[in-house]
Amino acid sequence: MTIIAHVKFSISIYFKCMSDLNKHVQPKNFSDKVALSFTKFLRLLADTFFKKRYGHRAVVLETVAAVPGMVAGMLLHLKSLRKIEDDKGWIKTLLDEAENERMHLMTFVHIAKPTAVERFIIMIAQFIFILTYAIIYLVSQRTAHRIVGYFEEEAVISYTEYLNELEAGTIPDQPAPEIAINYWNLPLHSTLKDVVRAIRDDEAGHRDVNHQFADLINIKKSKKNVVTNEKIKKEKTEEILN
Ligand SMILES: [Fe+2]
Ligand SMILES: [Fe+2]
Repeated sequence: MTIIAHVKFSISIYFKCMSDLNKHVQPKNFSDKVALSFTKFLRLLADTFFKKRYGHRAVVLETVAAVPGMVAGMLLHLKSLRKIEDDKGWIKTLLDEAENERMHLMTFVHIAKPTAVERFIIMIAQFIFILTYAIIYLVSQRTAHRIVGYFEEEAVISYTEYLNELEAGTIPDQPAPEIAINYWNLPLHSTLKDVVRAIRDDEAGHRDVNHQFADLINIKKSKKNVVTNEKIKKEKTEEILN
């Protein structure tokens, strides 16, 4: 009985985890659609360039992934100073995300060494991405967070594919780098598979946080619209009555 209950429990947790990993936020407005199209375009570029070279893909993409948290954190930090306003914990969350993504990079550089061409791409990509993301964030904070939410959905998919190849033995497994064992507090005999699982969980966390940030901005905007509409209605009624 206990065993059946345990199996049942494990299966339900397994399906919950899988559905959590496959989570996709449907685009609801123009801002979401822009974010999704931008993400799909970049995914296509990454797929064309890296194909199944997952280690190299991770190294290059993690150099880009560590940018939005730092840029957004810095912009919100400056806004908080400028407006003398509390940030409600957003800055710390975003800076932690940037640091976590940087640790993904520090880990993967032990798995795959970037080639000279990849190092050149990293330099160009960082320059372009910092500017592009900062501009997007200044124009539409909501779109910027939604973009990261969608980036992270893709990251979860890519790490799941990587994990599948490791589990199937198509890509040989190897001992986890020491830096990863220390950072994620993994058992000493852990392997690359365990590291990829830990990183994929991190990506799912960033995905949820950034989608929530975009949702919160959506709510704030719709509340503002309701208030403005009510104000207009009130003014019109007063005009008629007078
Ligand atoms: Fe990452
Ligand atoms: Fe990420």
